[in-house]
This record gives sequence, structure tokens and C-alpha cells, in this order.
Amino acid sequence: MFDWLYSLFSNDLAIDLGTATTLTFVKGKGIVSHEPSVVAVQRTPMGGRRPFRFGFEAKEMLGRTPGNIEAIKPLKDGVIADFELTEKMLVYFINKAHQRRTLVKPRIIICVPAGITEVERKAVIDSALGAGAREVYLIEEPMAAAIGAGLPITEPSGNMIVDIGGGTTEVAVISLSGIVYAKSLRIGGNKLDESIINYLKKNHNFLVGEQTAENIKIQIGDALPVGDPMEMDIRGRDLIAGIPRTMHLNSLQVNEALAEPLQSIIDTIKEVLEQTPPELSADIVERGIVLTGGGALLRNLDLYIQEGTGLPASVCDNPEYAVVLGTGKALEEIRLLKEVTLVRQG
Ligand SMILES: Nc1ncnc2c1ncn2[C@@H]1O[C@H](COP(=O)(O)OP(=O)(O)OP(=O)(O)O)[C@@H](O)[C@H]1O
Ligand SMILES: [Mg+2]
Repeated sequence: MFDWLYSLFSNDLAIDLGTATTLTFVKGKGIVSHEPSVVAVQRTPMGGRRPFRFGFEAKEMLGRTPGNIEAIKPLKDGVIADFELTEKMLVYFINKAHQRRTLVKPRIIICVPAGITEVERKAVIDSALGAGAREVYLIEEPMAAAIGAGLPITEPSGNMIVDIGGGTTEVAVISLSGIVYAKSLRIGGNKLDESIINYLKKNHNFLVGEQTAENIKIQIGDALPVGDPMEMDIRGRDLIAGIPRTMHLNSLQVNEALAEPLQSIIDTIKEVLEQTPPELSADIVERGIVLTGGGALLRNLDLYIQEGTGLPASVCDNPEYAVVLGTGKALEEIRLLKEVTLVRQG
């Protein structure tokens, strides 16, 4: 009875707390925000830190801050690296979602990478409680991604999901609302950016920042070049002359830069397939691999995975929203919530 009353006034939230991006979903409304997981802090003379910008505004500052300001990504490899700032960032997103109309503390469901440690889970729960949640549920990212991608997860058949985020790539086989086998690889979009930076440094004595590397990846990155190469001019610093310079880059060069991290994604998919019970493997051969996460937007990644594994692969619609939409769906369907959530606290 009270639960029902509560639900009338509360604004329950689903949060995809990602290494690169945090998305929030309000029950009955859908996705209400989609911003980078970045916090800008000001160093105080006493040695403290004062967070003063979050999300987009903070991301703009990455690599561009003067001495007393720092732009920090509080999550690394899919898990909380800076507890205090993660909590502050959650407070920001929760307040933003509710636009100060909260009557009751919200019930929050947050997704976490599959197979994170007890300590890492507790950090997520504590930061959500600290940020004002009444009750916290955790759901594993691949499960959320599979629900969001519309896979029939409650049926007794094997579904393979590959969620490629900023910090991690999670490969999982799901059947009967459970994860049969999963592997989390600490390689994602950030690693691809890093590989571009290293490639340019090593082969062209050319230094670019993280943001430029990400732009290169998004604009001309290609997992499996098939058509005409794409080109772009990039700005950075000539490491020999020590001065800013513009350089011409094409998609074949970027493809070469991305080869190693992309290969490790294929290797992980193969490892998971080797561990999958034969009946479920047969289902996967038939249904194919479904790709989710922002990283799945890399050009021709589906073809590359298809070629590398010999199995059909496809990117779901709006892959960057799959996890938050799946988490939101669990929030809206109490039966699903009970079936798929990991822990509940509060
Ligand atoms: N068009 C694109 N092409 C290639 N990569 C892209 C594109 N758009 C976004 N990305 C990459 O997707 C990544 C972010 O994906 P996503 O938002 O799913 O990550 P996340 O959920 O924050 O991270 P994680 O799940 O690892 O914690 C970034 O590395 C970003 O550069
Ligand atoms: Mg993610």
C-alpha cells in the first residue's frame, strides 16, 4: 500500500553510469540526459577540490585547463576510480533529471559491468545512496544491453551480446534471464583513441590530444575498409620542430592504428564462444551476434566481427542507448526487475 503511494510521488530513475557517458532515464518519461562522465574541479589553496562543472561543460575543459582546474573522468575501465567525484556527479544527474521537483527520494537502478568485484559493487551502491537514492538496484550491463536491444532474453535460447563502451567491452551469452557466460575486456573506445595517439606519435612524430583522437575515430575510423578511403586534416604538434602543424590523414592509416585493440575484441568473442554450451552456440550461429554501446558505431564494425568470427553480426538500433533503455525497461516492469537485478539495497 505504502509502496504504491510512494510510487505515485517518486521519480524512479535508471542510470547508465558509463566510463565515457552517463545516461539517465526517468520512469514514464524516457531518456532525459546523455552527457559525458566528466567532472571539472577547482583546487583550493588548502589542497581541497571543489567540483564546479559536470557533463558537457566539464568535457570541453579536458586537456584545456589552467593550473588550478582539472577535468577528471571519475570512472575508469567501467568501474568507479574516484568515489567522491562519482557521487557528486550522480547528485548532479539526479537533480537534473528531477528538475528540483523531487518529493520523495528516488528508487534508482544502475548498471554495472558483469563480474565486477564486491567492493566495486558496494562503491556504486554507496555513491547512489550518498547521492540521495532511497533504494538501489544493480543490473549487469550485458543484461541491460540485451533487453534494450530487444533480444528475447527470457526464452530458453542463446543470445550473444557484445557491448562496446568507452572503457570496457563486455561479451555475454544470455538465456532464460541469466548470464550463462560473460567476459569483460578492459578495452573500449578510449583504447581506440589511445591507439590513434600512439600511432601518430610513433609513425609521424605528431602529437594529438584525446579529443582530437576521438574525433578522428568518429569521422574517419573504419574497422574494415571496403570503399574509397576517407580523409581529413588534423591539428596537433610536430614533435620534432615542436610547433603546431596540420597533417593529412586517411582512413587506411586509422584502420592500421586500430588493428590491435580490434583484434582483442575478436579474441574475446572467440573465447566466450569456446566456453558456451553447444546448444546455445547453435542458437548463436543462427541468430548472430548483436552489438551495442557507443563503440558499436565504429564504421563497419559489424562486418569486421562477422569476418573475424564467421558468425552473423549486427548493430542494434541506437546502440548507445541500449543499456539505458534496457535498464529503464527493468524499472518499468517490476517482474523483469525482480528477474534480472543483481542486488537490491536500501
Ligand atoms: N560514431 C562513432 N564511431 C566510433 N566510436 C564512437 C562513435 N560514437 C561514439 N563512439 C565511442 O563510444 C564510446 C562511448 O560509448 P558508451 O557511451 O557506450 O560508453 P560507456 O557506456 O560510457 O562506457 P562503459 O560501458 O565502458 O563504461 C566512446 O569511446 C566514443 O568515442
Ligand atoms: Mg556502457
